Amino acid sequence: MALQTAVHPALSRVLIDEATLSARIKELGAQITRDYSGKRLMVVGVLKGSVIFLADLLRALGPEVDVETDFVAVSSYAGKASTGAIRTLLDLRHSPEGKDLLLVEDIVDTGLTLTALTETLRAHRPNSLEVCTLLDKPECRKTPFQPKYVGFKIPNEFVVGFGLDYDERYRQLPCVGVLKI
Ligand code: PRP
Repeated sequence: MALQTAVHPALSRVLIDEATLSARIKELGAQITRDYSGKRLMVVGVLKGSVIFLADLLRALGPEVDVETDFVAVSSYAGKASTGAIRTLLDLRHSPEGKDLLLVEDIVDTGLTLTALTETLRAHRPNSLEVCTLLDKPECRKTPFQPKYVGFKIPNEFVVGFGLDYDERYRQLPCVGVLKI
């Protein structure tokens, strides 16, 4: 008998199921392992939405990469929609100067957060700085920002689960789904 995960009542539909997420994250892990083989890589999770993806991605990295982890947290200023300015709530513990950095995000939407965050981090002169996002909504972009590693390009729908929230809820869902409205 085939097992099927029940759809959470808050969802109108599942957009990306557990098996598809797991397979794609393993592919991303293999790609990042190839790209950083023999190097020391600082993987930086952007709180909070990235945590579920980050946990799986880290475990998909091979022993060829020497991985250290850290976290940052940012919040937008009131004028984010127009200015893209962010405030750092939690900064890196150690300077990223000279290091290879990989920022891990759950979603890139307008691109304003990552445009501002990557500019801020580049000021600290890392050796390299790339972004890996689980989800990408390219049609919502307000900046030319383009992440190097993308799990899934998705349409402009409000999605939750697998780390993504609505008012801090639904991050725990094991799939990415479209919230009922
Ligand atoms: C989400 C996401 C990105 C940002 C993407 O964070 O994790 O950081 O929004 O949006 P943008 O491309 O339009 O800037 P959010 O502020 O919801 O915080 P969270 O990660 O704690 O849920």
